Amino acid sequence: MLNIILFGPPGSGKGTQSESIIADYQLVHLSTGDILRDEVSRATPLGIEAKKIMDQGQLVSDEIVIGMIKSKLNEHANAKGFIFDGFPRTVAQAEALDKLMEELNTPISVLLSLEVPEEELKERLLKRGEIEGRTDDNETTIRNRIKEYLDKTQPVAGYYEAQNKLQIIDGVGAIDEIYQQIQKAIASL
Ligand code: AP5
Repeated sequence: MLNIILFGPPGSGKGTQSESIIADYQLVHLSTGDILRDEVSRATPLGIEAKKIMDQGQLVSDEIVIGMIKSKLNEHANAKGFIFDGFPRTVAQAEALDKLMEELNTPISVLLSLEVPEEELKERLLKRGEIEGRTDDNETTIRNRIKEYLDKTQPVAGYYEAQNKLQIIDGVGAIDEIYQQIQKAIASL
């Protein structure tokens, strides 16, 4: 099985690059951001609680997102592999994911880390805010999201580097050129 973590700060292109990976490798896409936004749009109790946290640019609790991933993994027991987008976002989430994958007898294959400078992240997200109206794409929330990433999420790359699973991808430039780097990284596994 091919189990990819697509990693990087807000606006680095995780969602964008996931689309091509899913199409070419037939992986099941697990995006905790998408799952949470679905809960928000259906105004479930979890969605109502999560919206407040997401609109502040903070992270939803580990317990909640780990529970969401666990149930999605169980739903897709026959998958060819998974692409994790926006998860894990803390070392505790990474440890929980490794345990879940161990139970399924299929480890994480690689963490692909999309690297994009902060100025470009802000530009991309502000532009998307204007076009799509995502409520967390505003200046204050973007600043908080990037801070949460630096404080709590970046250490996840080191956690997988210690397992020799980290591959760096230059996330600046044309979308298809970035995807070519991703294909090369996957081919090298
Ligand atoms: P989530 O939905 O995961 O948001 P994010 O990490 O902030 O990521 P984005 O979706 O903003 O960016 P992306 O890297 O996917 O880039 P994209 O391809 O969209 O999380 C939202 C919130 O949910 C979190 O803040 C948190 O509250 C909560 N949450 C989610 N997961 C959680 C977890 N595990 N634990 C706790 N809380 C969690 O691209 C961005 C824009 O750039 C697009 O407009 C795109 O068209 C454009 N773009 C992409 N590539 C390029 C390129 N090469 N050049 C120019 N523009 C580009």
